[in-house]
Amino acid sequence: MASADSLLRQPWRTVHGIPMVCAFAHNWERVDAFQSRPEDIVVATFPKSGTTWISEIVDMILHGGDPEKCKRDAITHRVPMLELVFPGQMLAGTEQLASMPSPRVVKTHLPVHVLPPTFWANGCKMVYVGRNAKDVAVSFYHFTLMNKMLPHPGTWAEYLEEFMAGRVAYGSWHDHVKGYWERRKEHPILYLFYEDMKEDPRREIGKVAQFLQQDLPAAVLDAITRHTSFEAMRDNPTTNYTSVPADLMDHDISPFMRKGIAGDWKNHFTVAQSERFDEDYAQKMAGTDLHFRTEL
Ligand code: A3P
Repeated sequence: MASADSLLRQPWRTVHGIPMVCAFAHNWERVDAFQSRPEDIVVATFPKSGTTWISEIVDMILHGGDPEKCKRDAITHRVPMLELVFPGQMLAGTEQLASMPSPRVVKTHLPVHVLPPTFWANGCKMVYVGRNAKDVAVSFYHFTLMNKMLPHPGTWAEYLEEFMAGRVAYGSWHDHVKGYWERRKEHPILYLFYEDMKEDPRREIGKVAQFLQQDLPAAVLDAITRHTSFEAMRDNPTTNYTSVPADLMDHDISPFMRKGIAGDWKNHFTVAQSERFDEDYAQKMAGTDLHFRTEL
């Protein structure tokens, strides 16, 4: 088995045609062979699109909006990440999930074509969150600076080129968001947008509860909305990732709960970068009726 140090800041490996975090690529058969259960709920996102936020919302909904029940463990254990593995530091996501009672909430960043077929075959419900590409690029850049499981991102300008070319973990943002958008026509996928969640979190939480067939009183929806605000999650040790070992994630470089807003890209993109990004975006998103808001 590779030592932990030898897995830090390593180049991507390739899994089913997409760049993958080096540590996660080890023994990929464990992901391909994973067995879903029909009652599994999948939380799927491109990284940095609000995965932790929607995971906490789903766990709160399943626990009747009781914050104490949701403080039973770190979000990484309550909602394990399917493809995660880091030898010697944590149990693989597949192993964590195998020992969990149903209904399990399964977090993944895998695009539709890499998600194990078992989830499609079992008709598992999925909640997908998309976030506008510019804010994702900025958030992913800061995350890549602080998360040593990923290769060093270089400068912002260098990283932006990699992001546009799909040479970041999980590949092309454009393909990811379009993949689930199309698949929702034939599979139970609730497709949400980060910007809508910022605009009216209670409304979007209501949609998730309805999708999961949980009839919750208004007061419970209010409680979930309060408990899952950016400020509450930033100050909650079970959701702010401070329990991850510091040699893997260094919050002094950039906190996991960084800003939590729509439109921060304006503080990072130059005018030229924005224009180039928009041109490339128009080509890659041509022909889809999927639209994102880049500000509120
Ligand atoms: P920023 O880096 O822009 O602040 P993920 O969980 O998919 O890794 O996404 C992390 C991003 O979601 C970070 O974005 C983080 O701040 C933001 N986020 C996490 N919880 C949030 C919440 N409750 N409300 C708004 N944004 C949240």
